[in-house]
Amino acid sequence: LHTSPLNSNRKSLRGSLAGSRGSLAGSQSSLAGKVAIVTASTDGIGLAAAQALGQRGAHVVVSSRRQSNVDKAVALLQREKIQVTGTTCNVGNSEDRARLVNMTVEQCGGVDIFVSNAAVNPFFGNIMDSTEAVWDKILDVNVKSAFLMTQLVVPHLEKRGGGSVVFVSSVAGYQPMQALGPYSVSKTALLGLTRALAPELAQSHIRVNCVAPGIIKTTFSQALWQDEDVVDELKKQLSIKRFGKPEEIGGVIAFLCSKDASYITGETITVTGGMSCRL
Ligand SMILES: NC(=O)c1ccc[n+]([C@@H]2O[C@H](COP(=O)([O-])OP(=O)(O)OC[C@H]3O[C@@H](n4cnc5c(N)ncnc54)[C@H](OP(=O)(O)O)[C@@H]3O)[C@@H](O)[C@H]2O)c1
Repeated sequence: LHTSPLNSNRKSLRGSLAGSRGSLAGSQSSLAGKVAIVTASTDGIGLAAAQALGQRGAHVVVSSRRQSNVDKAVALLQREKIQVTGTTCNVGNSEDRARLVNMTVEQCGGVDIFVSNAAVNPFFGNIMDSTEAVWDKILDVNVKSAFLMTQLVVPHLEKRGGGSVVFVSSVAGYQPMQALGPYSVSKTALLGLTRALAPELAQSHIRVNCVAPGIIKTTFSQALWQDEDVVDELKKQLSIKRFGKPEEIGGVIAFLCSKDASYITGETITVTGGMSCRL
């Protein structure tokens, strides 16, 4: 478990944030005083979401499966003067999920924002060749754990009088990608989960939204951007002729969690460089 030297540094950190981000204070995009849990947040889009939330003043709780990755992410965010707490959490494990939420409440006093970013893809190939084990793994991590984490977090958001949940889906949730059938189906399920939860949680002043990234240059997507023939083929589908950067998703996630988005719920924002997206 790694925590920032919060108690001793809180005042000076606030001071320096107020100095460097003074223009944000009091603005609709400020997340000062908020606590944000982001799953799978030691690399790629999750880490960029933690940075974007932290830059707007939130205290971010980062996690992933490997302690060494957590250590690196915490150190990076601390260097950026972001208030951060880190721990390991494999979202597919119920004890890990409960520990992450309990630790956040104990150490940070509550939760306001939950970003469900974790996903796995253990299978490439024809969907008809996918096994029950593949489906169990993909649905457990990508869909069930996203819901079960939300179920754990919601009572804490309610205690704060409301909050924000954001799921990370994919453009593949709109148009299944070749060789990624089961993964794509799991990402379509998140579009449905967003819509199923939003009306029920609105009465608790909790907004539920989703981001569907296009192809973003991360380790997860390296099979798509390392092969030049695949890159050429994919670029034909893009209006902006390059792949996205994690921070181009992080900022949209932070926007959805801010007051700027106070009338947006049950929505999915596609962030794809212009790939056409519709179900
Ligand atoms: N990259 C894209 O083009 C793209 C496009 C659309 C959607 N997405 C979605 O964006 C999300 C993040 O992907 P990414 O591209 O940012 O991936 P990434 O850069 O490879 O990062 C993956 C992160 O997830 C953590 N992780 C993996 N399995 C985990 C688990 N079971 N529990 C907790 N943490 C776990 C990893 O750390 P550890 O190894 O330490 O666990 C790492 O921090 C996923 O939901 C993905 O489906 C990505």
